Amino acid sequence: MPEADSSELKQFYEGVPQRREAFFLKGSGAYDWGMQNRLARVFDPASGRTVMLAIDHGYFQGPTTGLERVDVSILPLVPQVDALFLTRGILRSVVPPASRVPFFLRASGGPSILKELSDEEIALDVEDALRLGACGVGVQVFVGGPMETKTVHNMTRLVDAGLRYGLPVLGVTAVGRELTRDAKYLRLACRIIAELGAQVVKTYYCDEDFETVTASCPVPIVMAGGKKLPELEALEMAHRAVQEGAAGVDMGRNIFQSDAPGAMLAAVRKAVHEGLPPRQALELYETLRHAPVPEPLGV
Ligand code: 5RP
Repeated sequence: MPEADSSELKQFYEGVPQRREAFFLKGSGAYDWGMQNRLARVFDPASGRTVMLAIDHGYFQGPTTGLERVDVSILPLVPQVDALFLTRGILRSVVPPASRVPFFLRASGGPSILKELSDEEIALDVEDALRLGACGVGVQVFVGGPMETKTVHNMTRLVDAGLRYGLPVLGVTAVGRELTRDAKYLRLACRIIAELGAQVVKTYYCDEDFETVTASCPVPIVMAGGKKLPELEALEMAHRAVQEGAAGVDMGRNIFQSDAPGAMLAAVRKAVHEGLPPRQALELYETLRHAPVPEPLGV
């Protein structure tokens, strides 16, 4: 028989109102608990920001420079990231299941770099994403491209499926070669993606009026990195993006194609989470790249 519960010792704190905190992410207050919890694993509740490492490039361009051996080049970086953006193939084959790193899975695909890139289909069932423990799925949306409607529908179908399970969708403004990445285009694309239900939008930085892109997008924006730049330029871009309203970055080549990816990741983290100015972030990069390499931590 269990012991009787002693009523004299109970504490009901009748005078203490139950804690009720607003969810910290822009536009995300009305989601279900599971959706918010997945987002809170990717975005740091303390800074409200994230540093995601994008390593999904192989889904259309095979063994991308810097990603030839994800086990060798990327796994040592994982303890420093807030989240990964990757394919289920690399996750299952390379990332240890004991890893505690949150991740978004690439959920669109089809054409290789040899074909019309925008002709994508949904390439992942959300049930598999859930089976794998994903915090979200990511999909390209080619606003203004030849496959605009099809890729918008890829996204809305994933949003509907994700809402059934509390799985956020990252809509990526995929800019075809013919489109200009200016604020006017990015405002249009980001807003359409958010209006149609994506919980997070990934987009490129533009030098002028980026703050109008973030201001007119009702959900968090993460900045995409794009092609490899000199480290100072990449740090300036990341710093400016968050100062101008982005909720973080989802960068790939500017980190893993750097001469010192671990040092670059540390510098990007300081710029994003602590607002470290670019020149100081570069100094940190230079210091760390010449520092002795520590033993990799567990992932
Ligand atoms: C393109 C993507 C990529 O697959 C990738 O995530 C891009 O990363 P980066 O441009 O920083 O190398 O989403 O839109």
